[in-house]
Amino acid sequence: MNKIHVDASKEYDILLDKGLINRIGELINPINKSKRVAIITDDIVNTLYGDKVSQSIEFQGFSVDRFVFPNGEKSKNIDTLSDILEFLAKIGFRRNDMLIALGGGVVGDITGLAAAIYMRGISFVQIPTTLLSVVDSSIGGKTAINLRYGKNLTGAFWQPLMVICDIDIIRNLPDGLFAEGMAEVIKCDVIRGMNIIEHVENHSVLDNLDKIIENCIILKRDIVQQDEFETMGIRNILNVGHTIAHGIEKLSNYSISHGKAVGTGLVWESMLASELGLCDDKYVQKIRRAVHTYSLYMSVTYNLDTLIDAMVTDKKNTDSRVTFMLPTTDKVCVERKLCINELKELLKDVRRVYL
Ligand SMILES: NC(=O)c1ccc[n+]([C@@H]2O[C@H](COP(=O)([O-])OP(=O)(O)OC[C@H]3O[C@@H](n4cnc5c(N)ncnc54)[C@H](O)[C@@H]3O)[C@@H](O)[C@H]2O)c1
Repeated sequence: MNKIHVDASKEYDILLDKGLINRIGELINPINKSKRVAIITDDIVNTLYGDKVSQSIEFQGFSVDRFVFPNGEKSKNIDTLSDILEFLAKIGFRRNDMLIALGGGVVGDITGLAAAIYMRGISFVQIPTTLLSVVDSSIGGKTAINLRYGKNLTGAFWQPLMVICDIDIIRNLPDGLFAEGMAEVIKCDVIRGMNIIEHVENHSVLDNLDKIIENCIILKRDIVQQDEFETMGIRNILNVGHTIAHGIEKLSNYSISHGKAVGTGLVWESMLASELGLCDDKYVQKIRRAVHTYSLYMSVTYNLDTLIDAMVTDKKNTDSRVTFMLPTTDKVCVERKLCINELKELLKDVRRVYL
């Protein structure tokens, strides 16, 4: 089994191997003394893995409760969070008991937040079941729910006690869900060249999946260790492709998937980088082809003023300029703050030249 150690405000391991879903009880046994857990999951993941995980934990003599909510981003809200907290109180969950987040990024984010605030903080384990949650959301301790006025507007930094990634689950994901996660995987390659785009070009991603996932996790781990609470600007590098993606998601009222928005954001932001002389057109086309391979591109037909406005009001932007982390050909992303007028002219060029 591959163990990736995280040295943040809490130290913990990310475990990576085939078949781990059958060994959850054995893996969490040494880290929980109260022998009591509650699994938080969504209805789809519950049908797939709920009983298996529950039985594996019960087999180690634990008492196991389970809270299941409807799948999807629409559940990542204050009502579900409140329901989880009331459920924990009702079953008499105590400080030493442990939550298990079994699912994708939605389950991980909301369970992490519940863990951060229930009884002023209890421990939790992440069992990510989507590619996106394995390479991104389960690592780094960011937890959140959405508010009516925007995504992830309420949350906390709260590190898990362990992250358990079963590669078989990821390998067997439905194609569309796998593709969604590939947007973040391609992003990792743009941040720190790891030949992933070459694997996409050579159709060898699945043959190298274990290594690709491991490299993406290590990249995120390294960044989080340097800037856990996002105070030093280092963690911003993970936002490559995301400034435009957030604008697109917001204008679509979140009907466009995160993966597609990020895929499109990566293409547009690399075009922007090319316009600014940061990367060459060959590299832009490489990113573009990789994104297209997973059908993660959509043509952006929004009015540019509206799109820029959606980016400016993004919570990551602290002034009237828009902050981008832009790709460079030598794979060292750089931050650029662009004034609205400059950005509009550049985006006009991007549209004219490339679309
Ligand atoms: N905390 C962070 O650092 C961070 C980083 C990136 C994204 N996120 C958040 O992650 C969320 C997106 O995560 P996601 O893409 O995993 O979405 P998700 O959790 O909504 O999962 C997507 C769909 O896949 C289903 N699913 C999950 N595992 C499955 C499996 N093994 N087989 C079949 N279906 C399965 C789910 O039921 C759901 O319908 C967003 O809310 C985003 O804000 C958080």
